[in-house]
Amino acid sequence: MDDWALPEADEVLAPEAVPGDDDLDASLRPRQLDDFIGQPQVKEQLRLVLDGATRRGEPSDHVLLSGPPGLGKTSLAGIIAAEMGADLRATSGPALERPGDLAAILTNVEASDVLFVDEIHRMPRAVEEILYPAMEDFRLDIVVGKGPGARAIRLPLPRFTLVGATTRTGLIASPLRDRFGFTARLEFYAQDELEEILNRSARILDVALGDEGCAEVARRSRGTPRIANRLLKRVRDFAEVRADGVVTGEVARAALALFEVDERGLDRLDRQALHQLCVAFGGGPVGLSTLAVAVGEETETVEEVVEPFLIQQGLLARTPRGRVATPAAWAHLGLPVPAPPGGTLFDTVDPE
Ligand SMILES: Nc1ncnc2c1ncn2[C@@H]1O[C@H](COP(=O)(O)OP(=O)(O)OP(=O)(O)O)[C@@H](O)[C@H]1O
Ligand SMILES: [Mg+2]
Repeated sequence: MDDWALPEADEVLAPEAVPGDDDLDASLRPRQLDDFIGQPQVKEQLRLVLDGATRRGEPSDHVLLSGPPGLGKTSLAGIIAAEMGADLRATSGPALERPGDLAAILTNVEASDVLFVDEIHRMPRAVEEILYPAMEDFRLDIVVGKGPGARAIRLPLPRFTLVGATTRTGLIASPLRDRFGFTARLEFYAQDELEEILNRSARILDVALGDEGCAEVARRSRGTPRIANRLLKRVRDFAEVRADGVVTGEVARAALALFEVDERGLDRLDRQALHQLCVAFGGGPVGLSTLAVAVGEETETVEEVVEPFLIQQGLLARTPRGRVATPAAWAHLGLPVPAPPGGTLFDTVDPE
Protein backbone atom coordinates (compact mmCIF):
# COMPACT_ATOMS: atom_id res chain seq x y z
CA MET A 1 0.00 0.00 0.00
CA ASP A 2 3.08 2.24 0.16
CA ASP A 3 2.83 3.70 -3.33
CA TRP A 4 -0.87 4.10 -3.12
CA ALA A 5 -2.96 6.20 -0.82
CA LEU A 6 -6.49 7.51 -1.00
CA PRO A 7 -6.68 11.27 -1.24
CA GLU A 8 -8.47 13.00 1.61
CA ALA A 9 -12.19 13.11 0.90
CA ASP A 10 -12.08 16.89 1.48
CA GLU A 11 -9.86 17.27 -1.55
CA VAL A 12 -12.54 15.97 -3.88
CA LEU A 13 -15.68 17.08 -2.07
CA ALA A 14 -16.95 20.57 -2.73
CA PRO A 15 -16.21 22.85 0.24
CA GLU A 16 -19.83 23.89 0.60
CA ALA A 17 -22.82 21.64 0.26
CA VAL A 18 -23.62 23.29 -3.03
CA PRO A 19 -20.73 23.94 -5.40
CA GLY A 20 -20.15 27.28 -7.04
CA ASP A 21 -22.85 29.11 -5.17
CA ASP A 22 -22.69 32.72 -4.21
CA ASP A 23 -24.58 33.97 -1.17
CA LEU A 24 -27.41 35.34 -3.16
CA ASP A 25 -28.04 32.15 -5.08
CA ALA A 26 -27.95 30.33 -1.78
CA SER A 27 -30.64 32.55 -0.29
CA LEU A 28 -32.89 32.10 -3.31
CA ARG A 29 -32.45 28.38 -3.59
CA PRO A 30 -35.58 26.44 -2.61
CA ARG A 31 -34.92 24.19 0.42
CA GLN A 32 -38.01 21.98 0.55
CA LEU A 33 -39.98 20.30 -2.20
CA ASP A 34 -42.91 22.61 -1.43
CA ASP A 35 -40.76 25.71 -2.16
CA PHE A 36 -39.73 24.24 -5.49
CA ILE A 37 -41.96 25.93 -8.04
CA GLY A 38 -43.06 24.32 -11.32
CA GLN A 39 -42.08 20.90 -12.77
CA PRO A 40 -45.30 19.44 -11.31
CA GLN A 41 -44.73 15.96 -12.71
CA VAL A 42 -41.17 15.66 -11.46
CA LYS A 43 -42.27 16.96 -8.07
CA GLU A 44 -45.10 14.47 -7.76
CA GLN A 45 -42.94 11.54 -8.85
CA LEU A 46 -40.10 12.54 -6.58
CA ARG A 47 -42.47 13.03 -3.66
CA LEU A 48 -43.67 9.47 -4.16
CA VAL A 49 -40.15 8.05 -4.38
CA LEU A 50 -39.09 9.86 -1.20
CA ASP A 51 -42.25 9.08 0.76
CA GLY A 52 -42.04 5.42 -0.23
CA ALA A 53 -38.46 5.21 1.01
CA THR A 54 -39.30 7.06 4.22
CA ARG A 55 -42.18 4.70 4.98
CA ARG A 56 -39.90 1.72 4.59
CA GLY A 57 -37.26 3.46 6.67
CA GLU A 58 -34.77 3.11 3.83
CA PRO A 59 -32.62 5.58 1.94
CA SER A 60 -34.13 6.66 -1.37
CA ASP A 61 -33.24 4.99 -4.65
CA HIS A 62 -30.54 6.67 -6.71
CA VAL A 63 -31.85 9.65 -8.66
CA LEU A 64 -30.64 11.07 -11.97
CA LEU A 65 -31.61 14.66 -12.79
CA SER A 66 -31.16 15.96 -16.30
CA GLY A 67 -31.92 19.15 -18.17
CA PRO A 68 -30.39 22.41 -19.39
CA PRO A 69 -28.38 24.58 -16.97
CA GLY A 70 -30.17 26.63 -14.32
CA LEU A 71 -33.43 24.64 -14.17
CA GLY A 72 -32.96 23.43 -10.60
CA LYS A 73 -30.93 20.20 -10.61
CA THR A 74 -28.57 21.25 -7.83
CA SER A 75 -31.51 22.67 -5.89
CA LEU A 76 -33.35 19.36 -6.17
CA ALA A 77 -30.32 17.44 -4.93
CA GLY A 78 -30.33 19.60 -1.80
CA ILE A 79 -34.07 19.13 -1.46
CA ILE A 80 -33.77 15.34 -1.68
CA ALA A 81 -31.26 15.37 1.19
CA ALA A 82 -33.38 17.79 3.23
CA GLU A 83 -36.58 15.81 2.71
CA MET A 84 -34.81 12.60 3.74
CA GLY A 85 -33.21 14.30 6.74
CA ALA A 86 -29.85 13.23 5.30
CA ASP A 87 -26.48 14.89 4.92
CA LEU A 88 -25.54 16.09 1.46
CA ARG A 89 -22.05 15.53 0.13
CA ALA A 90 -21.35 17.15 -3.19
CA THR A 91 -18.75 16.58 -5.84
CA SER A 92 -18.66 16.66 -9.61
CA GLY A 93 -17.65 14.46 -12.52
CA PRO A 94 -14.60 16.53 -13.49
CA ALA A 95 -13.36 16.62 -9.86
CA LEU A 96 -13.24 12.82 -9.81
CA GLU A 97 -10.14 12.41 -11.92
CA ARG A 98 -8.98 9.02 -10.69
CA PRO A 99 -10.76 5.99 -9.19
CA GLY A 100 -9.07 6.80 -5.89
CA ASP A 101 -10.90 10.13 -5.75
CA LEU A 102 -14.26 8.43 -5.76
CA ALA A 103 -13.04 5.66 -3.45
CA ALA A 104 -12.01 8.31 -0.93
CA ILE A 105 -15.51 9.74 -0.93
CA LEU A 106 -17.25 6.39 -0.80
CA THR A 107 -15.22 5.17 2.16
CA ASN A 108 -16.34 8.30 4.02
CA VAL A 109 -20.01 8.05 3.13
CA GLU A 110 -22.30 7.27 6.04
CA ALA A 111 -25.57 5.37 5.97
CA SER A 112 -28.38 7.36 4.27
CA ASP A 113 -26.07 10.16 3.11
CA VAL A 114 -26.94 11.76 -0.19
CA LEU A 115 -23.94 11.89 -2.49
CA PHE A 116 -24.44 14.49 -5.21
CA VAL A 117 -22.34 14.15 -8.36
CA ASP A 118 -22.85 17.18 -10.58
CA GLU A 119 -21.95 16.91 -14.29
CA ILE A 120 -21.86 13.17 -13.87
CA HIS A 121 -21.44 12.73 -17.65
CA ARG A 122 -17.93 14.15 -17.30
CA MET A 123 -16.75 11.42 -14.94
CA PRO A 124 -13.88 9.40 -16.44
CA ARG A 125 -14.73 5.84 -17.46
CA ALA A 126 -12.34 4.28 -14.92
CA VAL A 127 -14.13 6.16 -12.13
CA GLU A 128 -17.52 5.14 -13.49
CA GLU A 129 -16.54 1.51 -13.12
CA ILE A 130 -16.00 1.99 -9.39
CA LEU A 131 -19.42 3.52 -9.17
CA TYR A 132 -21.34 0.57 -10.68
CA PRO A 133 -20.89 -1.93 -7.81
CA ALA A 134 -21.12 0.91 -5.30
CA MET A 135 -24.54 1.87 -6.61
CA GLU A 136 -25.86 -1.59 -7.16
CA ASP A 137 -24.44 -3.70 -4.35
CA PHE A 138 -23.06 -1.02 -2.00
CA ARG A 139 -19.63 -2.44 -2.46
CA LEU A 140 -16.31 -0.87 -3.25
CA ASP A 141 -14.05 -2.87 -5.55
CA ILE A 142 -10.69 -1.36 -6.04
CA VAL A 143 -7.29 -2.52 -7.16
CA VAL A 144 -4.45 -1.34 -4.98
CA GLY A 145 -0.91 -1.09 -6.25
CA LYS A 146 0.53 -1.93 -9.65
CA GLY A 147 2.06 -4.92 -11.41
CA PRO A 148 2.55 -8.29 -9.69
CA GLY A 149 2.01 -6.76 -6.22
CA ALA A 150 -1.43 -5.43 -7.10
CA ARG A 151 -4.28 -6.59 -4.88
CA ALA A 152 -8.02 -6.37 -5.29
CA ILE A 153 -9.78 -4.96 -2.28
CA ARG A 154 -13.48 -5.29 -1.64
CA LEU A 155 -15.19 -3.20 1.01
CA PRO A 156 -18.84 -3.12 1.98
CA LEU A 157 -20.40 0.35 1.88
CA PRO A 158 -23.32 1.74 3.85
CA ARG A 159 -26.54 2.30 1.91
CA PHE A 160 -26.38 5.78 0.48
CA THR A 161 -28.32 7.65 -2.18
CA LEU A 162 -26.54 8.83 -5.27
CA VAL A 163 -28.01 11.89 -6.97
CA GLY A 164 -26.47 12.56 -10.35
CA ALA A 165 -27.03 15.69 -12.40
CA THR A 166 -26.32 16.13 -16.07
CA THR A 167 -27.01 18.57 -18.85
CA ARG A 168 -26.40 15.72 -21.31
CA THR A 169 -28.33 12.49 -20.73
CA GLY A 170 -27.19 11.32 -24.13
CA LEU A 171 -23.60 11.16 -22.88
CA ILE A 172 -24.40 8.84 -19.99
CA ALA A 173 -23.53 5.25 -20.73
CA SER A 174 -26.56 3.01 -20.38
CA PRO A 175 -25.01 0.80 -17.63
CA LEU A 176 -24.78 3.93 -15.51
CA ARG A 177 -28.21 5.26 -16.51
CA ASP A 178 -29.82 1.91 -15.72
CA ARG A 179 -28.52 1.96 -12.16
CA PHE A 180 -30.63 4.96 -11.26
CA GLY A 181 -33.99 3.97 -9.81
CA PHE A 182 -35.57 7.25 -10.82
CA THR A 183 -34.72 9.64 -13.63
CA ALA A 184 -36.22 13.10 -13.82
CA ARG A 185 -35.97 15.36 -16.80
CA LEU A 186 -36.41 19.05 -16.05
CA GLU A 187 -38.08 21.15 -18.73
CA PHE A 188 -37.99 24.87 -19.38
CA TYR A 189 -40.42 26.72 -17.08
CA ALA A 190 -43.69 28.27 -18.20
CA GLN A 191 -44.44 31.98 -17.91
CA ASP A 192 -46.66 31.64 -14.81
CA GLU A 193 -44.10 29.47 -13.03
CA LEU A 194 -41.34 31.98 -13.71
CA GLU A 195 -43.57 34.75 -12.40
CA GLU A 196 -44.11 32.79 -9.19
CA ILE A 197 -40.36 32.23 -8.84
CA LEU A 198 -39.68 35.92 -9.43
CA ASN A 199 -42.27 37.00 -6.87
CA ARG A 200 -40.74 34.65 -4.32
CA SER A 201 -37.23 35.97 -5.07
CA ALA A 202 -38.44 39.58 -4.93
CA ARG A 203 -39.87 38.92 -1.46
CA ILE A 204 -36.60 37.39 -0.28
CA LEU A 205 -34.49 40.19 -1.79
CA ASP A 206 -36.95 42.92 -0.85
CA VAL A 207 -37.40 44.18 -4.40
CA ALA A 208 -40.51 46.20 -5.28
CA LEU A 209 -41.64 44.14 -8.25
CA GLY A 210 -44.86 45.21 -10.00
CA ASP A 211 -47.06 42.71 -11.85
CA GLU A 212 -46.18 44.04 -15.27
CA GLY A 213 -42.49 44.22 -14.40
CA CYS A 214 -42.64 40.65 -13.17
CA ALA A 215 -44.36 39.44 -16.34
CA GLU A 216 -41.80 41.25 -18.47
CA VAL A 217 -38.81 39.72 -16.67
CA ALA A 218 -40.42 36.27 -16.73
CA ARG A 219 -41.04 36.53 -20.47
CA ARG A 220 -37.35 37.25 -21.06
CA SER A 221 -35.86 34.61 -18.77
CA ARG A 222 -35.32 31.84 -21.35
CA GLY A 223 -37.62 29.60 -19.32
CA THR A 224 -34.83 29.38 -16.73
CA PRO A 225 -35.11 30.25 -13.02
CA ARG A 226 -31.43 31.09 -12.68
CA ILE A 227 -31.73 33.63 -15.50
CA ALA A 228 -34.96 34.98 -14.02
CA ASN A 229 -33.16 35.62 -10.72
CA ARG A 230 -30.20 37.17 -12.48
CA LEU A 231 -32.36 39.50 -14.55
CA LEU A 232 -34.29 40.45 -11.43
CA LYS A 233 -31.05 41.72 -9.88
CA ARG A 234 -30.15 43.74 -12.95
CA VAL A 235 -33.62 45.19 -13.19
CA ARG A 236 -33.48 46.10 -9.53
CA ASP A 237 -30.17 47.96 -10.08
CA PHE A 238 -31.79 49.88 -12.91
CA ALA A 239 -34.91 50.67 -10.88
CA GLU A 240 -32.85 51.95 -7.95
CA VAL A 241 -30.37 54.00 -9.96
CA ARG A 242 -32.49 55.34 -12.80
CA ALA A 243 -36.02 55.24 -11.40
CA ASP A 244 -37.75 55.31 -8.02
CA GLY A 245 -36.88 51.74 -7.06
CA VAL A 246 -40.08 50.13 -8.30
CA VAL A 247 -39.78 47.57 -11.09
CA THR A 248 -42.62 48.53 -13.40
CA GLY A 249 -43.12 47.12 -16.90
CA GLU A 250 -41.43 50.15 -18.35
CA VAL A 251 -38.44 49.92 -16.01
CA ALA A 252 -38.05 46.22 -16.78
CA ARG A 253 -38.15 46.80 -20.53
CA ALA A 254 -35.61 49.64 -20.39
CA ALA A 255 -33.28 47.67 -18.10
CA LEU A 256 -33.41 44.51 -20.18
CA ALA A 257 -32.81 46.46 -23.38
CA LEU A 258 -29.73 47.93 -21.72
CA PHE A 259 -28.50 44.43 -20.87
CA GLU A 260 -29.19 43.22 -24.43
CA VAL A 261 -31.92 40.75 -23.58
CA ASP A 262 -34.58 40.87 -26.27
CA GLU A 263 -38.37 40.47 -26.00
CA ARG A 264 -38.08 36.74 -26.38
CA GLY A 265 -35.32 36.40 -23.82
CA LEU A 266 -32.54 35.82 -26.34
CA ASP A 267 -29.24 37.25 -25.14
CA ARG A 268 -26.35 38.46 -27.25
CA LEU A 269 -24.86 34.99 -27.75
CA ASP A 270 -28.21 33.49 -28.76
CA ARG A 271 -28.79 36.23 -31.31
CA GLN A 272 -25.25 36.01 -32.59
CA ALA A 273 -25.63 32.25 -33.14
CA LEU A 274 -28.94 32.76 -34.97
CA HIS A 275 -27.48 35.59 -37.01
CA GLN A 276 -24.47 33.53 -38.09
CA LEU A 277 -26.71 30.61 -38.93
CA CYS A 278 -29.12 32.71 -41.01
CA VAL A 279 -26.70 35.13 -42.63
CA ALA A 280 -23.23 33.59 -42.79
CA PHE A 281 -24.46 30.05 -43.46
CA GLY A 282 -27.62 30.90 -45.38
CA GLY A 283 -29.80 29.10 -42.83
CA GLY A 284 -27.72 25.93 -42.75
CA PRO A 285 -27.40 23.06 -42.49
CA VAL A 286 -24.16 23.76 -40.69
CA GLY A 287 -22.18 21.59 -38.30
CA LEU A 288 -22.20 22.33 -34.59
CA SER A 289 -18.45 22.91 -34.37
CA THR A 290 -18.49 25.33 -37.31
CA LEU A 291 -21.30 27.28 -35.71
CA ALA A 292 -19.40 27.35 -32.41
CA VAL A 293 -16.27 28.69 -34.10
CA ALA A 294 -18.35 31.32 -35.89
CA VAL A 295 -19.61 32.70 -32.57
CA GLY A 296 -16.30 32.17 -30.77
CA GLU A 297 -17.66 29.76 -28.18
CA GLU A 298 -17.00 26.22 -27.02
CA THR A 299 -19.10 23.61 -28.81
CA GLU A 300 -20.44 22.46 -25.41
CA THR A 301 -21.74 25.94 -24.64
CA VAL A 302 -23.50 26.18 -27.96
CA GLU A 303 -24.93 22.68 -27.64
CA GLU A 304 -25.94 22.74 -23.97
CA VAL A 305 -26.76 26.38 -23.33
CA VAL A 306 -27.65 28.11 -26.59
CA GLU A 307 -29.36 25.44 -28.67
CA PRO A 308 -31.88 23.90 -26.27
CA PHE A 309 -33.69 27.21 -25.85
CA LEU A 310 -33.54 28.12 -29.55
CA ILE A 311 -34.96 24.68 -30.36
CA GLN A 312 -37.67 25.03 -27.73
CA GLN A 313 -38.55 28.42 -29.22
CA GLY A 314 -38.79 26.89 -32.69
CA LEU A 315 -35.97 29.06 -34.03
CA LEU A 316 -33.44 26.33 -34.76
CA ALA A 317 -33.64 22.65 -35.63
CA ARG A 318 -31.12 19.84 -35.48
CA THR A 319 -31.09 17.70 -38.61
CA PRO A 320 -28.87 14.77 -39.55
CA ARG A 321 -26.93 17.12 -41.83
CA GLY A 322 -26.47 19.90 -39.30
CA ARG A 323 -28.23 22.84 -37.70
CA VAL A 324 -30.83 24.74 -39.69
CA ALA A 325 -32.65 28.00 -39.05
CA THR A 326 -36.43 27.96 -39.14
CA PRO A 327 -38.41 30.71 -40.91
CA ALA A 328 -39.17 32.09 -37.43
CA ALA A 329 -35.44 32.71 -36.95
CA TRP A 330 -35.28 35.13 -39.86
CA ALA A 331 -38.48 36.77 -38.72
CA HIS A 332 -37.09 37.19 -35.21
CA LEU A 333 -33.94 38.84 -36.53
CA GLY A 334 -36.07 41.14 -38.68
CA LEU A 335 -34.72 39.63 -41.89
CA PRO A 336 -36.78 38.57 -44.93
CA VAL A 337 -37.47 34.82 -44.88
CA PRO A 338 -35.76 33.23 -47.92
CA ALA A 339 -37.72 30.81 -50.07
CA PRO A 340 -36.38 27.29 -49.47
CA PRO A 341 -34.60 25.97 -52.58
CA GLY A 342 -36.61 23.10 -54.01
CA GLY A 343 -38.80 22.03 -51.12
CA THR A 344 -39.04 22.59 -47.44
CA LEU A 345 -36.14 23.02 -45.09
CA PHE A 346 -37.70 20.51 -42.73
CA ASP A 347 -37.90 17.38 -44.77
CA THR A 348 -35.16 15.78 -42.70
CA VAL A 349 -35.77 17.16 -39.23
CA ASP A 350 -34.56 14.84 -36.53
CA PRO A 351 -36.64 15.14 -33.36
CA GLU A 352 -33.55 14.97 -31.15
N1 LIG B 1 -38.14 25.32 -9.23
C1 LIG B 1 -37.52 26.38 -8.71
N2 LIG B 1 -38.14 27.21 -7.87
C2 LIG B 1 -37.51 28.28 -7.40
N3 LIG B 1 -36.23 28.63 -7.70
C3 LIG B 1 -35.55 27.83 -8.51
C4 LIG B 1 -36.15 26.66 -9.06
N4 LIG B 1 -35.26 26.04 -9.83
C5 LIG B 1 -34.14 26.79 -9.79
N5 LIG B 1 -34.32 27.87 -9.01
C6 LIG B 1 -33.34 28.94 -8.80
O1 LIG B 1 -32.42 28.90 -9.87
C7 LIG B 1 -31.08 28.81 -9.39
C8 LIG B 1 -30.35 27.80 -10.24
O2 LIG B 1 -30.82 26.50 -9.95
P1 LIG B 1 -29.82 25.26 -9.83
O3 LIG B 1 -28.47 25.73 -9.41
O4 LIG B 1 -30.50 24.25 -9.00
O5 LIG B 1 -29.78 24.80 -11.35
P2 LIG B 1 -28.98 23.60 -12.02
O6 LIG B 1 -29.98 22.86 -12.83
O7 LIG B 1 -28.21 22.86 -11.01
O8 LIG B 1 -28.00 24.34 -13.01
P3 LIG B 1 -26.55 23.81 -13.60
O9 LIG B 1 -26.84 22.78 -14.64
O10 LIG B 1 -25.97 25.04 -14.22
O11 LIG B 1 -25.77 23.31 -12.43
C9 LIG B 1 -31.18 28.43 -7.92
O12 LIG B 1 -30.26 29.12 -7.15
C10 LIG B 1 -32.58 28.82 -7.52
O13 LIG B 1 -32.55 30.10 -6.93
MG1 LIG C 1 -26.14 22.78 -10.69
